[in-house]
Amino acid sequence: MTDNAPAPLIQFAGVTKRFGALTVLDDFNFEVAPGEKVTLIGPSGSGKSTVLRILMTLEPFQEGRLTLAGLSYQEPGGTGPFKASERHLREIRSHVGMVFQSFNLFPHMSVMRNVAEAPVRVLGLSRDEAQARAVDLLAMVGLADKKDHFPSQLSGGQQQRVAIARALAMRPRVLLFDEPTSALDPQLVGEVLAVIGDLAHEHDLTMLLVTHEMRFAREVSDRVCFFDKGRICEQGSPEAIFTAPSHPRTREFLASVLR
Ligand SMILES: Nc1ncnc2c1ncn2[C@@H]1O[C@H](COP(=O)(O)OP(=O)(O)OP(=O)(O)O)[C@@H](O)[C@H]1O
Ligand SMILES: [Mg+2]
Repeated sequence: MTDNAPAPLIQFAGVTKRFGALTVLDDFNFEVAPGEKVTLIGPSGSGKSTVLRILMTLEPFQEGRLTLAGLSYQEPGGTGPFKASERHLREIRSHVGMVFQSFNLFPHMSVMRNVAEAPVRVLGLSRDEAQARAVDLLAMVGLADKKDHFPSQLSGGQQQRVAIARALAMRPRVLLFDEPTSALDPQLVGEVLAVIGDLAHEHDLTMLLVTHEMRFAREVSDRVCFFDKGRICEQGSPEAIFTAPSHPRTREFLASVLR
C-alpha cells in the first residue's frame, strides 16, 4: 500500500483462529480498503467462511488483532470468548451485512417485513421510513411486485435477492457474501449475480465475496485472494490470478475449478 492510500477499512493482523486442536487461520494478515471488492477463493476447508464469520462477529478468534472502521473487535480487558461486550459487538455489526448460501430469511414474515424489520428494531426508523427504504431496495433487486409474498412463495433466486435487500436496508459499510449462489438451481444463478454485479459497480460499498463463480469473480473483483490452509497463498488482480498465477497451489486449484 502506498503512503497516500486510504487507511484500511478492515485489518486482520496476525489473527489465529482455532477450533480445538485444528488451526483454521494461522497468523492471518489481510487488509481491505474502503470500497474495495475482494473475492476469496480456495479449496474447501481453507478458511474462507471463517474469515467472513469472524468479521460478522459469529466466531471469536484466539490471537492477533482485527479492526473494522477503526473499531477493534476486542475491548481492553474484555472477557468471554469474544473479549468484548455485546454492546460493542453490536456496534461493529452495525457496519457489516452478510448474505448466506442458504438465504436465512424469516419464514413467518412477508418480504416487506423481512427487509423493513431490522431498520425499525435496530436502527430505530419509523415503520413508514423503513418501508419506504424497503420499497426502494426491493425495486432495485427486481422484486417490487413480491413485497406481500412470504419466502416460501418465492424461488431460491428471489429469496436470495430479498436477502440482499435485507442486508442493504441496514446501510452497512461492508457486505459479506458467502457462496450466495451455491444453493441455487443453475438457471437462477444469473439473476442473483446480476444484482451483486450491479452493487459492485454502482456503490462505494466494500464487498467480500466467497464464490466458486470464477468468471463472475473476474468481472467484479478489484482483487482476488487464493486461500490455502488458513493463509492467503497468493493474491492480486483478477487478471494476474486467473491468467498468470505464480504459485503451484493456485494453478492446481484453478485447473480443478476452471475445467
Ligand atoms: N464450528 C466449527 N467447529 C469445528 N471446526 C470447524 C467449525 N467451523 C469450521 N470448522 C473447520 O474449519 C476449517 C475451515 O472452515 P471454513 O468453513 O472456513 O472453510 P471454507 O474455506 O469456507 O470451506 P468451503 O469451501 O467448504 O465452504 C474446516 O476444516 C472446517 O471443518
Ligand atoms: Mg465456506
